[in-house]
Amino acid sequence: MGWCCCITWLWSILAIGLGVALFEFFSRKKRDLKGKHVLVTGGSSGIGLSVALDVAARGASVTLVARDVDKLEKAQVEIATVISRVASGGYVQYFSGDLSGDPEKIASIVKDAEVDLGPIYMLVNCAGFARAQTFEDIPPWLVKQLMDVNYTGSFIITQEAVRSMKRQHEGVVVFTSSQAGLIGLYGFTAYSAAKAALVRLAEALHMEVKPYNITVTVCYPPDTDTPGFEEENQTKPVETKLMSETAGLLKPEEVAKKLVDDALIGSFTSTVGLEGFMLTTLCAGMGPITDAFSFLTQVFLFGIFRAVSAFYLWSFNKIVDKEYRKRQACKKSE
Ligand SMILES: NC(=O)c1ccc[n+]([C@@H]2O[C@H](COP(=O)([O-])OP(=O)(O)OC[C@H]3O[C@@H](n4cnc5c(N)ncnc54)[C@H](OP(=O)(O)O)[C@@H]3O)[C@@H](O)[C@H]2O)c1
Ligand SMILES: *[C@@H]1O[C@H](CO)[C@@H](O)[C@H](O)[C@H]1NC(C)=O
Ligand SMILES: *[C@@H]1O[C@H](CO)[C@@H](O)[C@H](O)[C@H]1NC(C)=O
Ligand SMILES: *[C@@H]1O[C@H](CO)[C@@H](O)[C@H](O)[C@H]1NC(C)=O
Repeated sequence: MGWCCCITWLWSILAIGLGVALFEFFSRKKRDLKGKHVLVTGGSSGIGLSVALDVAARGASVTLVARDVDKLEKAQVEIATVISRVASGGYVQYFSGDLSGDPEKIASIVKDAEVDLGPIYMLVNCAGFARAQTFEDIPPWLVKQLMDVNYTGSFIITQEAVRSMKRQHEGVVVFTSSQAGLIGLYGFTAYSAAKAALVRLAEALHMEVKPYNITVTVCYPPDTDTPGFEEENQTKPVETKLMSETAGLLKPEEVAKKLVDDALIGSFTSTVGLEGFMLTTLCAGMGPITDAFSFLTQVFLFGIFRAVSAFYLWSFNKIVDKEYRKRQACKKSE
């Protein structure tokens, strides 16, 4: 009798929890971008360009920030075409600047961008690059540059944008991390560390800006078919390739659409695909709780996903072992 009662209670609590979660999941309000100003760093290529095209189609005005003026100009034309198609009355402008450069210059880009298009409503940090190499092969200047662009660059431009968002009492901030920012993967000693640093930055910032009606989202793209990915592919160790292949190669448009949707809902994490869902659930840790649905999946699926992770880790270690043996055999035959 006692047991039966206990189980009934447990199930009732579970059912109520799930009900609340589903209700919240379907009633979450997506904010609107019509007439708003969106700044995209790295908006001239890859995921950043796809994000810029996506927000332009939703009626936003867009500022692009990257280094290469030729690429920026081409992107501007592409985005202007979308803006005139949707007839939103929006505008697209660009600023050329190095996010790993002078902090004052980076901050002044935000100020200049706001002169014509008004206060920034949404900031998407997409500028960045990846390099996979074995630990001892990574040149020290590259370690520093990875940190400068991928971490410090995002930090400084976000500081300036948040100052402005706090004054407006509204805003959306997005950081682009990587699935490699959630796990330390072979070949990514420098990259994983830089991308993981962004996650802690985002968690702390989330806590600070919540009262100001500003949301923070971290996007974890899997391998995505971009110019940046092609370049990264050139130096990737075979082990890294074999491991990341398991998740497939996505189109930047898919990643961008999900990123914008999740950010406008105010979800803390954004990811595409089953692997991404599993990883973000596993790595939720002390991260902010932004909706009941993901919170419940974390509470109830963590144990199972941790068990599944053992299979992935086993297969990753098998790859490392196999390539190691191959190299040893090569050495011996020389
Ligand atoms: N593609 C993937 O598989 C993948 C997976 C996980 C995470 N990510 C992350 O997603 C983001 C976008 O990647 P992507 O593949 O779309 O890259 P991408 O095609 O190479 O585009 C990178 C963009 O960032 C700009 N940029 C690079 N360094 C800069 C700097 N120092 N200052 C200002 N702008 C700079 C580039 O323009 P300029 O060169 O002209 O400056 C370009 O617009 C990156 O943070 C990347 O780490 C990508
Ligand atoms: C990270 O840094 C690398 C190397 O500087 C750069 O190629 C890449 O675009 C950066 N990624 C981000 C998101 O800043
Ligand atoms: C918060 O921001 C949204 C737009 O992002 C706005 O519609 C809403 O009125 C703001 N709420 C407060 C309390 O300022
Ligand atoms: C990456 O490089 C490998 C060869 O090492 C090639 O087979 C593969 O098609 C490349 N992938 C992309 C997306 O460039």
